[in-house]
This record gives sequence, structure tokens and C-alpha cells, in this order.
Amino acid sequence: MVVKKLTLENFRNYEHETFEFSEGLNILTGKNAQGKTNCAEAVFYLCTGAPLRIRHDRQLIRSGAEFARISAETEGRYGKVSLAAVIFETKRELYVNGNKLSRSVDFLGNMRSVFFSPGELRLIQDGPEERRRFLNLSISQTSRDYCTALVRYRRILDQRNNLLKEHDVSLIAETLPVWDEQLAQYAARIAVRRREFLSSLSVLAADIHAELTDGAEHLLLSPDREYRGEEGEVAERLLKELKGSRERDIRLGFTSVGPHRDDIRITIDGTDARGYASQGQARTAALSMKLAEVEIFRKLSGEPPVLVLDDVLSELDLPRRKKLLGHVAGVQCILTCTHAERVLSGAEGKKIRIQGGKIVRGTGV
Ligand SMILES: Nc1ncnc2c1ncn2[C@@H]1O[C@H](COP(=O)(O)OP(=O)(O)O)[C@@H](O)[C@H]1O
Ligand SMILES: [Mg+2]
Repeated sequence: MVVKKLTLENFRNYEHETFEFSEGLNILTGKNAQGKTNCAEAVFYLCTGAPLRIRHDRQLIRSGAEFARISAETEGRYGKVSLAAVIFETKRELYVNGNKLSRSVDFLGNMRSVFFSPGELRLIQDGPEERRRFLNLSISQTSRDYCTALVRYRRILDQRNNLLKEHDVSLIAETLPVWDEQLAQYAARIAVRRREFLSSLSVLAADIHAELTDGAEHLLLSPDREYRGEEGEVAERLLKELKGSRERDIRLGFTSVGPHRDDIRITIDGTDARGYASQGQARTAALSMKLAEVEIFRKLSGEPPVLVLDDVLSELDLPRRKKLLGHVAGVQCILTCTHAERVLSGAEGKKIRIQGGKIVRGTGV
């Protein structure tokens, strides 16, 4: 699947601009703070329905405007699909081929992307939240079922957590079993999907990491807790755990077991990468995970996703840069950098120069 055209209206620092992308490498250049990442973020938004690093959609709306609009024309194995997201301060409208969707989950899977930026180092170095976010966004792009389970799980979890803070003991005793039953069902679905995803990701990431390091390092990704068996069995066991942790949860005021607490263990040559990997090792490990994600999307959907490489090339040494660009041959790539000449080592691509939220046209790059 490729994105042919992307139009941004009142999105971040763009007033109105249309990008026409090639099916191969697209190179967005420009000085800092001109709108390169903003463009990359718009692509990400159309794939996930989620803003990149912020909690609220409203930051995406150009200052002074009432709403933002991102629209794209894509082409893939099922033909041409047009997508649009209209972002208001407190709501969003999503469109596929001009039809407004009533459920936002139906927006997922029309376009897929893998996003890699220097911030992705957090995947290796930060706490479990970053890795759960990675799993959630990645699996949601290939499974609406996962996304639905996740939304419902979070809703019930919130309700359970609110209940745990209640002072009315009989209300807790009466209602908790109802929440626990439902929570365990969705938790099991999430856990099993994550287990499947992670086992594919681990194999692919290990291969890619070995390639990027010329066989010098072994990367291993594994769940920090195992959920064995089928979804039904996992649900039963989780229900038991929830029951077992009720008293503790009431004391703590929150739910202490379940997939919202899980993590991915990442080791390089047997050593925990978090806290021990050097900056360079962490960067390569994060890149390996992201390229593995490209392969998973390709495998699951029969076509590669759009790969967005935001400002990462300059941080990799020349051999890795070459390997990366070689690896993604045949994948549509949107790459941003400040100095195209310096980082591209001769790679050919469509160059688009951006200045102040506008494409600079007609001057050559
Ligand atoms: N909602 C918004 N309205 C107007 N400008 C914005 C908005 N959000 C971000 N910007 C501007 O976008 C610019 C940053 O763009 P960005 O894409 O991150 O730059 P870069 O080219 O360095 O990747 C900043 O000047 C910032 O002020
Ligand atoms: Mg940027």
C-alpha cells in the first residue's frame, strides 16, 4: 500500500498543502521547525487514529483555526482508497472513500505505517509504558479485534479502579465480580494477541539485528510474563488472579494484575538492554524492532506499510544507513532530514523541500 497524495489543512503549521509522494523513497528536507515531522505525524495519524506523542488532538489544529483536516489518496492491493480525518477540539470525524464512519475502529487497517524517530529509543530505554504503547499501536493496525478489546478493557479497568476507591464495602463486594468477569475476557484476548505478535516479532527482529551488527549481537524480545494456553484458559486464570488480588487492589486503589501491567523484556547478548545498552546499541535494537514490524505488516496484509523515518539517518553510521536503505527497497519510505546530501550516501529519491509549513517549489533542492 502506498500513499500517493497527502493534503494537510490547518494541521500543525500547515495552512493548506498537498504532498505528492513517489512509491519509493521520498525525502523531506528543510531546516528545523519547518514542518517535516508534522507531515510525518499526519501519515501516522491516518494509520492509527492517534496523535504521535501527545494526548490531545487539539494540539494538531493550527493555532487560530477551528479544525484540521488530513486527507490522503492511497493505492494498494484492493485498489484506490481515500481517507480523511477531520480533527476538532473535542471530537474527530473519520472518512473512508467519502463515507463518514460511525465507529473509529473501522478506520484502522486502511493504511499502515511504521514510524521511526530518535524518540523510539524510549522503546529500549524507558519504562514498560512505551513498549505497551508500541504493541498496542502496532497490533491495532493489523487487528481491529485487538483494538476493540483494548478500548473495552480500558473502559472496564477505569470503572474497576474507580470502584476500588469507594468506601461502600457492600457496593464493592457486589460489583467487583461483575467487572472482573468482563475484564478477564478482554484481558485474555489482548494477552493472546500480544503473545502471537511478539513471537513473530522476536524472530524477525533477531535476524535483522544480527544483519545490522554483522552477526556481532543477539537481540531477544520476550514477554515479561507468559500467558499459556488458549484464550478461554487464559481468561480463567486471569479471573482467578483478579479474585486473588482483590484485597490488595482495594488497599492500593488500583488494579495490580493484567495486560496493562505487562512488559516486553529486551536483551542484547543476554543482558537486559534497558539501563545497560549503549546509546548506539539501543538505537540499533529499536531499529531492528521497527524493521521487524515492517516485515510483520507485510506478512499479515500481503503488502508493505509506509515506512516513516523521521530524522534518524543522521544518527546512524554509514554502514548501518546503507543497510537500512537496502533493507527497505520496495517499501514506500517517507524520510525527513535537514541535510539530504550528507545522510543519503547517494540514494535516489523524490526530494521535497519544506519551509514554514509550505513546500518550496520550482527552485530545485
Ligand atoms: N498547532 C499548531 N499550530 C501552529 N503551528 C504549530 C502547531 N503545532 C506545531 N506547530 C509548529 O510547527 C513547527 C514544528 O514543526 P516540525 O514538523 O516539528 O519541524 P521539523 O521540520 O523540525 O520536523 C514549530 O514551528 C511549531 O511551532
Ligand atoms: Mg522534526
